[in-house]
Amino acid sequence: MENIKNQMNDAFSSINSLTDLESLRVNYIGKKGIITEMYSKMKELSNEEKKEYGMKVNELRDFFNSKYDLLKSELNEKALNEKLDSEMIDVTLPGYSFTTGSAHILDKVIEEIESFYMSMGYDVVEGPEVEKDLYNFEMLNLQKGHPARDAQDTFYISSDEILLRSQTSPVQVRTMLEKKGEPFRIICPGKTYRRDYDDATHSHQFMQCEGMIVDKEISLSDLKGTLDLMAKHLFGDNVVTRFRPSFYPFTEPSVEFDVSCFKCNGKGCNVCKGTTWITIGGAGIVHPNVLNMAGYDSEKYTGFAFGFGIERIAMVKYEVPDVRCFYTNDLRVCNEFERRGE
Ligand code: DAH
Repeated sequence: MENIKNQMNDAFSSINSLTDLESLRVNYIGKKGIITEMYSKMKELSNEEKKEYGMKVNELRDFFNSKYDLLKSELNEKALNEKLDSEMIDVTLPGYSFTTGSAHILDKVIEEIESFYMSMGYDVVEGPEVEKDLYNFEMLNLQKGHPARDAQDTFYISSDEILLRSQTSPVQVRTMLEKKGEPFRIICPGKTYRRDYDDATHSHQFMQCEGMIVDKEISLSDLKGTLDLMAKHLFGDNVVTRFRPSFYPFTEPSVEFDVSCFKCNGKGCNVCKGTTWITIGGAGIVHPNVLNMAGYDSEKYTGFAFGFGIERIAMVKYEVPDVRCFYTNDLRVCNEFERRGE
């Protein structure tokens, strides 16, 4: 028994893993373990011997168990500490910072305009930026040599017939041809191009939003009501609109429309340049020639159309002094828009 105890001690001291400890357990107190076997020898002994022998074996087993429990808890703690060390998280380390993108301010303005017109039953349509002279000019009542063409210094592409659209108005023609004489109402926001030198208020590429409605008995008062509501939607309920006689070959009568300055309310300020009015765009009653050329009977149908610059709206609404800010994609400027767009 002394020998067994010494061997056991040696065995315990050489163990440094839980798996080794488990095989030691099997070796001593498992089904065929050394101490288990010692118990099974009891039946060969006399009652006298049994008592003493039994006590000794019990002692040996208790000794084993106490050593085993102690070592097991030590090894468990060691394993836990190792795990904690390897998985340690330093909560004082600085975190990752995420930069989030934001919608471009021109897109935000377009979305505002679209949601207003969609709520009134308009469809939002698109047209190509590379356009035919036929749609950009001729079918809008601007024949070749028409003096009003000069006002829109145009980029031609391969020939006199193909150009970069100088306005979104050709989408009027495309829509009428597509609707084949049926009434409709559309808006079309999109890019347009003119041969301008870029400066604070000019950009060779800019955006317009076109609008057109064709139906029976559409009148100038429908146009005025619609643009007045749009102005209030964009600039606040306090603004009023003003319509001035103007000329566009595709509308008759034609108007330019202004909105009262939403910032100074009639006092004059930097936004309205002291005039108390802000010019937004052009509009009018669709010229009968335009309707007839696109297959609509101008005796039966009338319509109104309008067009305005998106940058112009964004510039006055967000007090952006230079149109080039929209196109240089300086992140500091974009983030500033994000903050002010909310
Ligand atoms: N296309 C014109 C421009 O670029 C704006 C315009 C004026 C559009 C009157 C219209 C309109 O539809 O009826 O200056």
